Amino acid sequence: MDSDELLRQARMSREQAYVPYSHFPVGAAVLTESGAIYGGCNIENASFGLTNCAERTAIYKAVADGHTRFKALAVIADTPDVCAPCGACRQVISEFAIPYIILANMEGRVATYTAEELLPLSFTAKDIKQNKQ
Ligand code: THU
Repeated sequence: MDSDELLRQARMSREQAYVPYSHFPVGAAVLTESGAIYGGCNIENASFGLTNCAERTAIYKAVADGHTRFKALAVIADTPDVCAPCGACRQVISEFAIPYIILANMEGRVATYTAEELLPLSFTAKDIKQNKQ
C-alpha cells in the first residue's frame, strides 16, 4: 500500500475544505480494496453540529459509489502532532474495519494505527441482537 499517494490525495482534498467557521481545513483519502482512492474534506454548517468531518466525507463518497471494503485511510491537517480523528469518525472507521489509518500533519509527521487501536471495544454489528419476529 502506497501511503505517500494516499497522503498526497488527502492533502489535495484538504484544499477543498469548506470551513468558514473553524478555518481548520482537514483532508482525508480512503483506498478501496479494488484500488480506487476517494478524497474528502470537512464541510461545515452554520448549524455547527451538522459539520461533516473529512474522514466521513471520504468514506461516504466511496460507499455511495458502491465500495464497502477498504485497505487504508489517510488524514491530514495543520496540527502540532498528527491529526487525531474525532470519536464519530472512529466509529465510522470501525464500521468498515479499515485496517490501516495513516495520520499526518502538514510538517511531515506520520503515524499509522489500526481501527482497533483508535477505538477499542467498539460497538459493531456483532453487538446488535437480531430480533426475529
Ligand atoms: N474535523 C475533521 O474534519 N476531522 C477530524 O477528525 C477532526 C475535526 C473538522 C471538523 C471541523 O470542521 C473542524 O475540523 C474543527 O473541529
